[in-house]
Amino acid sequence: MTRYPFPKGFLWGGATAANQIEGGYNEGNKGLNIADVLPGGKARYEFLVKPGFDFEIHPDQYFYPNHEAIDFYHRYKEDIALFAEMGFKAFRMSIAWTRIFPNGNEVEPNQEGLEFYDRVFEELHKYGIEPVVTISHYEMPLYLVKEYGGWRNREVVTFFERYVNTIFTRYKDKVKNWMTFNEINSGLVMPINGLGFSIQTEDDKYQPTFQAYHHQFLGSAIAVKACHEIIPGSQIGCMILFAPVYAFDSNPQNVMHALREEQLFNYFCGDVQVRGEYPAFIKRYFKEHNIELDIQDGDLELLKEGTVDYVGFSYYMSRTEKKVKLDEESSEGNIIGGIRNPFLEASDWGWEIDPEGLRISLNKLYDRYQKPLFIVENGLGAYDKVEEDGSINDDYRIDYLREHIKAMGEAIEDGVELMGYTSWGCIDMVSMSTGEFSKRYGYVYVDKHDDGSGTLERKKKKSFYWYKDVIESNGEKL
Ligand code: BG6
Repeated sequence: MTRYPFPKGFLWGGATAANQIEGGYNEGNKGLNIADVLPGGKARYEFLVKPGFDFEIHPDQYFYPNHEAIDFYHRYKEDIALFAEMGFKAFRMSIAWTRIFPNGNEVEPNQEGLEFYDRVFEELHKYGIEPVVTISHYEMPLYLVKEYGGWRNREVVTFFERYVNTIFTRYKDKVKNWMTFNEINSGLVMPINGLGFSIQTEDDKYQPTFQAYHHQFLGSAIAVKACHEIIPGSQIGCMILFAPVYAFDSNPQNVMHALREEQLFNYFCGDVQVRGEYPAFIKRYFKEHNIELDIQDGDLELLKEGTVDYVGFSYYMSRTEKKVKLDEESSEGNIIGGIRNPFLEASDWGWEIDPEGLRISLNKLYDRYQKPLFIVENGLGAYDKVEEDGSINDDYRIDYLREHIKAMGEAIEDGVELMGYTSWGCIDMVSMSTGEFSKRYGYVYVDKHDDGSGTLERKKKKSFYWYKDVIESNGEKL
């Protein structure tokens, strides 16, 4: 037994996103979204980070894993029963905007979509599991991408406002805990997912990206205000991809470089959403990159009025930076870049494993914002093997999670206010960055493979029983 001071009511659970679990991509009048046009395999990551993606489906060339995903759309009862068996207090999920507004710009919502989430929330409540709902998780309606240019277009703010008002009104008795945009800062490296457009040349990257961010910040502030008005007792947070940045060594040039990278990537969006204003450091960045935001009357007041209640973040890895890097030093695979850290090992996909970095992140975020924190994603993507007797012995995953939970315990001792922990991919699903099924995070195994084959049967892994004990003992039994 390890004794860590997890508070009473700590939200233990798991996290998912609609596009990665639901499938049923053309059922129930759902419209297409970004995830529906992203293929599986190597091409996907290239499309996400490189210019020129066409947002079309090419069935003869690629396989589209999100179309069926793990079929949560039809199997949610079975899956929620498994989460309940583990003792989940919270389940993080997202609503697919295109189930509610198939194109994104309709005036009337789609009833079938609304009813689907009614059923899911009711099923969660049946077991006393609190839904934690992300409003937008890499699922922007494709129509808004193609016809409006994604978040670059200010009109999208109005469509988003209609969407949030609709879901808050509909689910006000069923959902009290919300989050605005998943990993909002990821748009700086993967604009397609986060901002709904593909950069065409390096040069046009700055102005459109930050204008799109300005619109998203308005959307976030509108959502926060509406949530508070429509749902008494609700909480709504931001969601940041947080990877603490380390300087490679004590050379002050490297330390300054690491600080700049941290400010831009880790803090820029959170500063606006939590403090309600653009931070000082970004003004110099805007000047240096000739960025002039179109900020209209009332915008800055709105940002100030719509600050979030808590800071949600994902944590998978840290990042090590040096001002001048050699190619061979690059940390191949670490999704947000940097150079290799000689003190860390990496996952099979090159993501550097750093539990202490989670304690560092929690301290940094709490020092900066003094708001409750919520770890809404963390986990190990790994290959799993089903043994002949059907068991799946994922001790490597248990080790990873145990060390991260200990780091959380230490941070709580440090004085950090932590609301909960919903580890990523509590059930195997489509990988966001690679479109693979073989990059598995779950406590529950799903028989589905990279070529689309598989029965979709669910099996409990060893980590399923381990996590059940962790929750039951409120983090004492690790
Ligand atoms: C986060 C995303 O970046 O990481 C999730 O919010 C994603 O959508 C998760 O699935 C893990 O990344 P991947 O690429 O391994 O699925």
